[in-house]
Amino acid sequence: MNYPFWDIPILGGSMLIAIIAILHVIVSHLAVGGGFYLYFAERKLAREKDPKFLNYIKSHARFFMLITTVFGAVSGVGIWFAIALVSPAATSTLIHIFLYGWAIEWVFFLVEILAIILYVYKFDRLSGASRQKLAFIYMAAAWLSLFVINGIITFMLTPGDYYQTGNFYTAFFNPTFWPSLFFRTVVCVAFAGIFAMFTATFHFEEDLREKAIKYASAYLLPAIIFMPVFAVWYFAMIPGLAKDIVTGASPLIMIFANISAGSAFLMLGAAIANSWIEPKRFSTVFTILLIIFASTFLATFELVREAVRKPYTLYERMYSNSIYIDKNKNPEIKCESFLSNLKWCDIKEVNAQNALAAGREIYRYQCQACHSIEGYNAIRPLVKHQSREFCEANILKLDELKKFMPPFFGNDKERSALALYLYSLNNKIEIGE
Ligand code: HEC
Repeated sequence: MNYPFWDIPILGGSMLIAIIAILHVIVSHLAVGGGFYLYFAERKLAREKDPKFLNYIKSHARFFMLITTVFGAVSGVGIWFAIALVSPAATSTLIHIFLYGWAIEWVFFLVEILAIILYVYKFDRLSGASRQKLAFIYMAAAWLSLFVINGIITFMLTPGDYYQTGNFYTAFFNPTFWPSLFFRTVVCVAFAGIFAMFTATFHFEEDLREKAIKYASAYLLPAIIFMPVFAVWYFAMIPGLAKDIVTGASPLIMIFANISAGSAFLMLGAAIANSWIEPKRFSTVFTILLIIFASTFLATFELVREAVRKPYTLYERMYSNSIYIDKNKNPEIKCESFLSNLKWCDIKEVNAQNALAAGREIYRYQCQACHSIEGYNAIRPLVKHQSREFCEANILKLDELKKFMPPFFGNDKERSALALYLYSLNNKIEIGE
C-alpha cells in the first residue's frame, strides 16, 4: 500500500466524504434540473409574453445562479480534496480509467457556468430568443455533466466486464449507467420544480404566485410517474450482496433506504396535493418543508448507494480499506506479511516489544476505513466483551461475520497483534505481554 492513512477521529473518512458529497449532490441535482426549468420557462415566455412572469423568472434565475455556482462549485472541489485524501489509491485508479471523462466533464462545467452567468447578468439586454438559446446551452451542458459523472459513479459499484476487457466504453456504459441516469434526471427535474415553488412564494401578487406554482408543479410529474420504475430497474442491476445490504443484511442501511423512499413520497405527494388544492396559499415555510423532504430523500439515497458498495470501494478491484483484490499484483493478499507492504509504517515485523503498536497500525490500515475507535461504527463497543483469544479467532472470519467486511490480511503474528490492540481498547495490558 503506497499511501499514508488520513486519520479522522469520530467521523471517519467515509462520513467526511458523505457530508461534503451530500451538500454537493443536492445542489448539483438542482443545478441540472434548473436548466430544464429555465429553457422551458423561456419557451413559455416566448408564447405568452407575460411581463410579470418575465420578472419572476429574472429573480428566480439570479437566486438559482447564486446557489448553484457558489455551493455547487465549492462543494464539488471539496469532494476532490476529501476523496483524494481518504482513498488516494481508489481515486488514482479512477483517474487512470476516466481521465478524459473528467476532462470532458470540466469543459461542460465551464460552459454551464458561463451560460448561466451570461443569462443572468445580460437578462435585460438580451432578446427573448437569445435568452432561450443561452438557457438551452446551460440545460444541455448541465445535463451532459451529469451524463459523464454518472458513468464514473456507477462504475464503482458495477464495473461490468471492464477488468476483463480494459475497454473504456464498457466501464462507462456499465450495467447501472442507464437506470441511474434516468433516475437522476427525473429527480433533477423534480428538484427544479420544488426550488421554483420556493422562489414563487417570494412574490406577493396572488395571480402570479398561482401561475408560477402551478407551472412548477408540472416539473414533479415525470418523477411521480417514472421514479419508481427507474428505482426498480436500478435495484435489479446491482450485485447480489448490495441487494442483501439494502434488504436487511445491514439494518441501518435498510432503515436509510426506507427513509429515502418515504421522503421522496412525502416531497412529491405534499407538493402536488398543495399546488392543486391551494396554489394561492403556498407559504415559504411550506416550501422549506418540501426542500427538507427533498434533501432527506437524496441524502439518504446517496448514503445507501455508498454503503451498498461494502466491502469494496471499487467492485472487483479494491476493498473499502484500499487493499487491491488482484492477487498477483498485491503481495499483502498472500498473507505472508501485511506490515512489510505498508510504505508509510515503520514497523515491518511484529515482536514482543512492538506488538501493541503494530496492532494499532494494522487496525488503522485494515479496519479504520469503516470503524472509528469511538464514534461512527465504533470498534470499542463491538469488541467489549471479547477475550484476546476470541478476538483472534474472530479476525479470521470477519468476512463471514458480516459479508460486507473484507477478510483479514496478514500472518498469524499480525493477527495476534491486532487482537491485542483491540483487546487493549477495553482492558489494561502490560507492554511486552
Ligand atoms: C468495509 C467496511 C469494514 C471494514 C474494512 C471492517 N469492518 Fe468490521 N464491520 C463493518 C460493519 C458495517 C459492521 C457492522 C456493525 C454493526 O453491526 O453495528 C462491522 C462489524 C464488526 C464487528 C462485530 C461483528 C459482529 O459479529 O457483530 C467486529 C468485531 C469487526 N467489525 C471488526 C473489524 C476488524 C477487526 C476489522 C479490520 C481487520 C474490520 N472490522 C474491518 C464494516 C467494516
